[in-house]
Amino acid sequence: MTLPIGLENKEVYLQWREEKLADYPSDSPALTVNLETPGQPNPQQIEALKALCRKTNMAIYAGPEAIVEDKNIAINLGAALGLKQVDRSLTTEDDGVSELSVAIGGEKSAYIPYTDRSLGWHTDGCYNDADHLINGFLLHCVRAAPEGGENYLLDPEIAYILLRDENPDFIDGLMLVDALSIPANIENDKVIRAEQSGPALSIDPDTQALHLRYTGRKTYVTWRDDPRLQEALAFLKDAFNEQNQYIFKVKLKPGSGLIGNNVLHNRTKFVDGDAADDKRLIYRIYYHDRITNALNNN
Ligand SMILES: [Fe+2]
Repeated sequence: MTLPIGLENKEVYLQWREEKLADYPSDSPALTVNLETPGQPNPQQIEALKALCRKTNMAIYAGPEAIVEDKNIAINLGAALGLKQVDRSLTTEDDGVSELSVAIGGEKSAYIPYTDRSLGWHTDGCYNDADHLINGFLLHCVRAAPEGGENYLLDPEIAYILLRDENPDFIDGLMLVDALSIPANIENDKVIRAEQSGPALSIDPDTQALHLRYTGRKTYVTWRDDPRLQEALAFLKDAFNEQNQYIFKVKLKPGSGLIGNNVLHNRTKFVDGDAADDKRLIYRIYYHDRITNALNNN
């Protein structure tokens, strides 16, 4: 059962909605699969992770609580789930794994993910063009900070339901072809990434998978001045509150992680400890594949 692209077919939408909301998990433990060796999940564990992604577009895995600095754990887990197309953005290493930790000085320290500050609600890769959308991501926690660094998560299909139930015009506003523009990234008069303009909400015509480009950032973004879009954004902002029963909260522990189809998320600020083991380190991989599509091919 897939989501129809247009708003015309209300019956199909209502059926899809009912299926989507039936037995929807109520908290993050219900999204969690235990993996003794996260880099080598067994077939049952792979299926459990995939089933969760089919339902909620995300899954959490809990590994043995030990600090292991090995990027292959994340790379192998993604591959085991069928994710093949690794995105290589400005700040990733050659293997596509970003090491998110507090960067002291250097070019990375200019990017908020590499600080201990909070990150507002967003989906990843808003600056990627339509041919290189970030559809899947994996976060693997190597070390956690003693304080803070939690993630709040919201399934974009749930966001779609909340928006459409409130006012179907919101969907039209978010689907405008130039709803969200991210200006070019220019360093020393050189364009290192061109301006990126596109819809905030799109549905793949082949797979009918929903994709959301969203950022709560106020700077370096331009939202089209259209009342449907502006009201949709105000509604979404209100939906990002602790009373929203569909928002999951997780603090990743060492050896645990999150995989998902580019769900809406934020990150609270954190405070690293003085000991080396208490300095937060997350491996992050972006994929052009969606996890649910990858499943269907297996
Ligand atoms: Fe993110």
